[in-house]
Amino acid sequence: MKILVTGGTGYIGSHTAVELQNSDHEVIIVDNLSNSDKNVLDGIEKITGIRPEFEEFNLADKKKTADFFKRHSDIEGIIHFAAYKAVGESVEKPLMYYRNNLFSLVNILQGMKDNHIPNLVFSSSCTVYGQPDELPVTEKAPIKKAESPYGNTKQISEEIISDTIESSELKGIALRYFNPIGAHETAIIGELPIGVPNNLMPFITQTAAGIRESLRVFGDDYNTPDGTAIRDYIHVVDLAKAHVVAVERMVNQKMKKDFEVFNLGTGNGYSVLEVIKSFERSTGEKLNYKIVGRRPGDVEQVWADTQFANEELGWKAEKGIDEMTLSAWKWQQSLKEKD
Ligand code: UFG
Repeated sequence: MKILVTGGTGYIGSHTAVELQNSDHEVIIVDNLSNSDKNVLDGIEKITGIRPEFEEFNLADKKKTADFFKRHSDIEGIIHFAAYKAVGESVEKPLMYYRNNLFSLVNILQGMKDNHIPNLVFSSSCTVYGQPDELPVTEKAPIKKAESPYGNTKQISEEIISDTIESSELKGIALRYFNPIGAHETAIIGELPIGVPNNLMPFITQTAAGIRESLRVFGDDYNTPDGTAIRDYIHVVDLAKAHVVAVERMVNQKMKKDFEVFNLGTGNGYSVLEVIKSFERSTGEKLNYKIVGRRPGDVEQVWADTQFANEELGWKAEKGIDEMTLSAWKWQQSLKEKD
C-alpha cells in the first residue's frame, strides 16, 4: 500500500515510517522541516534499506496541498502527524497553532475528498480527557475543556474529521496517545527536541548527559502514592506499530464504524519519581534532580484503559518502562557521537 505520512521526519512520524516500510508498505513523507531535520530520511533508509519518497512543503498551504494530492491520487491511506505540539508555546501563540494545525487538516481532508482517498489516521492525544473522573480512562470518557490551544486543536481536529466523515465517503481513526517516550533500538532515530525540552524524558536524558544541570520534578504534593504526577508512558516503537495496524484496518475495510477512536497506552501509570528510578536502574546513571512546585496546567494522574485497542485493534504495547528509558538514553548518547 502507498501511505502518506505527514510529519514523517518528526519523532513519532519517523518511527512509523520505519514500521510501515518493515511491513512492506510504500511510504511518501510530506514535512516542512519546521521541527525536524532532513537527515532523518537517511536514518529511515539506514534502518529499513529503503529511502521513502519525500516532499518538503507546508500542508497549511492550500494550493501546494491541492497540487500534491492531484499528483499522488494513488495514495491509499494517510497518517497525519504534521502539527505543532508545544503546549506552552500554544498559549503564547494561539493563532499560529490554530492556523497551522487546523488549516493543514482541512487542506488534507479536501485533497482526500477531491481525489477519492478515503482513509485517514489522525494523531490525537489523551490531553482531550483532561483530568478524567475515572481511571483508567476509556474512549467513552467525556472530553474536557482543553487546557491549552494545542489541546484544543486536537479536540477541534477530531470534530472536523467526524463532521467531514458524516458528509462524505471518508473514514477516519483517531489515535489518542498517552506519553510516547524512547527511541528506535538502533539509536539511529529518536526524539530531537529543539532548545530546552518541555517533556520529561528528553529532560532526563539531557540532564544525565550533562547538557542540563538538574531535572526539576514538578510537584510532590499530588494525591498519588509518592506525591508526584502519574502518566502512562508508551514506547514510541509500540506506538508506531499501532499506526500500521490502524491503517491496514481501514484499507482492508475492517472498521466497525466510519470514525473510530482508540487509546494508545500501556495501561500502566508511572510517577515522575518512578520514571527517574527506571532510568537509573536501566542505564546505571545517577540523575541529578530536585523537587520544585507544580507546573501550571498539569493533570495529577492519567493512564489508559487499553482493552478496546487490545481487543478491537488487535494491538498491544509490548515494551516496559526500563526498555523505554534505556532506549532514550542510548539515543541521547548517539547524539553526542554525531556532534
Ligand atoms: N515533568 C517534570 N519535569 C520536567 C518535565 C516534566 O517533573 O522537566 C513532569 C510533568 O510535570 C508531568 C510528567 O513529568 O507530570 C510528564 O510531563 P511531560 O511534559 O513529559 O508530558 P505531559 O503529560 O505534560 O504532556 C503530554 C504530551 C502533550 C499533551 C499533554 C497534555 O506531551 O502533548 O500531555 O497533558 F498536551
